[in-house]
Amino acid sequence: MRILLLGSGGREHALAWKIAASPLVTKLWCAPGNAGIAREAECVALDIADHAAVIDFCRSNAVDFVVVGPDAPIAAGIVDDLAAAGFKAFGPTKAAARLESSKKFTKALCRANNIPTAAYEHFTDANQAKACIRTRGAPIVVKADGLAAGKGVVVAMTEGEALAAVDMMFGGGLGEAGAEVVIEEFMEGEEASFFALCDGEHALPLATAQDHKRAFDGDKGPNTGGMGAYSPAPVMTEATCARVMEEMIEPTLRALAAMGSPYKGVLYAGVIVTSEGPKLVEYNARFGDPECQVLMLRMMSDIVPALIACTDGQLKNFSLRWFDDAALTVIMATRGYPGSYGKGSVIEGIDAAAKVEGVEIFHAGTIVKDGAILANGGRVLNVCALGKTVTEAQARAYAAVERIKWPEGFYRRDIGWQAVARERNL
Ligand code: GLY
Repeated sequence: MRILLLGSGGREHALAWKIAASPLVTKLWCAPGNAGIAREAECVALDIADHAAVIDFCRSNAVDFVVVGPDAPIAAGIVDDLAAAGFKAFGPTKAAARLESSKKFTKALCRANNIPTAAYEHFTDANQAKACIRTRGAPIVVKADGLAAGKGVVVAMTEGEALAAVDMMFGGGLGEAGAEVVIEEFMEGEEASFFALCDGEHALPLATAQDHKRAFDGDKGPNTGGMGAYSPAPVMTEATCARVMEEMIEPTLRALAAMGSPYKGVLYAGVIVTSEGPKLVEYNARFGDPECQVLMLRMMSDIVPALIACTDGQLKNFSLRWFDDAALTVIMATRGYPGSYGKGSVIEGIDAAAKVEGVEIFHAGTIVKDGAILANGGRVLNVCALGKTVTEAQARAYAAVERIKWPEGFYRRDIGWQAVARERNL
């Protein structure tokens, strides 16, 4: 089977690593890829926003199956366009992906189907949104309706912060994504990420994970795309996972099928475990990054048949096997991220780091120049490890991080702290 993977981040490196291990794969390309992905796949310099170019590549190279990693091409309808051209692709259609690309769509779907989530109101006018904030008070959550590259959610601890977020969004700070906003009740609890493969009708739960969104230790500093993650998330007990399936994932699939937009692909539910049980924070129409990296390390089964069963509507009797081990990843980012940062600094020691027992290193923003690995983005490396416990995986990942010589990089030193604290108290 000839597979084309779309994307260039750590998530796509982990997917490429897992797909390349499948005996079903005879050829794997990745567009555009990165320096690490180039070890698993042939990287091709395609602009994945140019759907016609992707389709031409599939035609010229007899591609059998396309796997779409990031949110932007999914929201732009690449799966629809590939299907119209006769190519099978893993991922939801543009209409089904509104679960991620429109907050108001998801909130309305939750309200209509009694899916537990924060109470909300939706606004197209800044003054009305501000009046709502003044009435409800802080803490309160302000969300841009559209995709905003991880910048569209403001958890405001004061009324002033919430009002400023409304001004920023309606003032064009997030472009079209902020033309409408959702104001939500603040929810208290521990957050986790839940993933399910969906074939339009059936859902197969995957493993759980927890990520660390803030830039600095102690969950301080600005929000990022994620500075580290681990799996499984102990807060997601078997009973909680069963409730997420029954109260969120299954009614969502039924509702989308009834609308004529069946959801196929991976559905990522950001959940918060409150004193009343799990509630939905948001849906994403793709694997999480960096959660995908730890999921791929723990997945024992071949992923390719699962992705195909998902796309073909054949998940009903499908199952996947997982390693019992925990997995943890530490993100190494360029200093300045998530604000402005430089490119082109040299990173050394990656091969030595990869020799630490249980360690796997996935690249995000890297390129190769004259044989050297250079930083080429904000999040740059994902230093991942398996261990019998999160504590062991954490120790291995940090032992590997210490072998990497990159003065222009930084990382958090406390990835996995909730799980490690729980393990200490067992
Ligand atoms: N880890 C957060 C995300 O992928 O959106």
